[in-house]
Amino acid sequence: LPLFLGALAFGYLLGSIPFGLLLTRMAGLGDIRSIGSGNIGATNVLRTGNKGLAAATLILDALKGLAAVLIAKTYGLDAAIIAGLGAFVGHCFPVWLKFRGGKGISTYLGVLLALLPLGCAIFAVVWLATAFLSRYSSLAALVAVIVVPVAVFLLGHAHIAQLLTLMSAIAIFKHRANIARLVSGEESRIGDKG
Ligand code: G3P
Repeated sequence: LPLFLGALAFGYLLGSIPFGLLLTRMAGLGDIRSIGSGNIGATNVLRTGNKGLAAATLILDALKGLAAVLIAKTYGLDAAIIAGLGAFVGHCFPVWLKFRGGKGISTYLGVLLALLPLGCAIFAVVWLATAFLSRYSSLAALVAVIVVPVAVFLLGHAHIAQLLTLMSAIAIFKHRANIARLVSGEESRIGDKG
């Protein structure tokens, strides 16, 4: 039990670093939470018009999930899975931002890359295909987080699929405002400025 709590806390601390907020602030772009959707993730950083900063946000938010899993993996797969969950929850509900964090997609990718690169590749293909066809980042994320846990389960990785199912449920919850905008036709598309 101490190992699991340690892995959870370690993952949470890493995951709770809000890179999108920090990078945009350092670049003098103001508070990302008052731009576009108000989210701290890469999609919203892109709405500032700074593609490099958006890419850096995606990579760093993914890296914290990847690092949490890989470091905890020295204590076994279960510790790695718990640390990945911690990082994902840390990103979505960071104590530093009064628990109002991001929607978790980049961190989901990083956790998945560390646990099962094939699953990450499936995620990327589903995300890119949906985004290409619809130009909605949120819809691409929603389709990916629904398809990927099923695909990973069918590939025989039940334990990892359990983690992904939990992360997907949280990600869908965090996209509830996006879902409402998609339904009402008000969601902004990739390339639209915030
Ligand atoms: O992963 C986040 C993305 O799906 C939606 O971001 O800023 O449009 O709410 P945003």
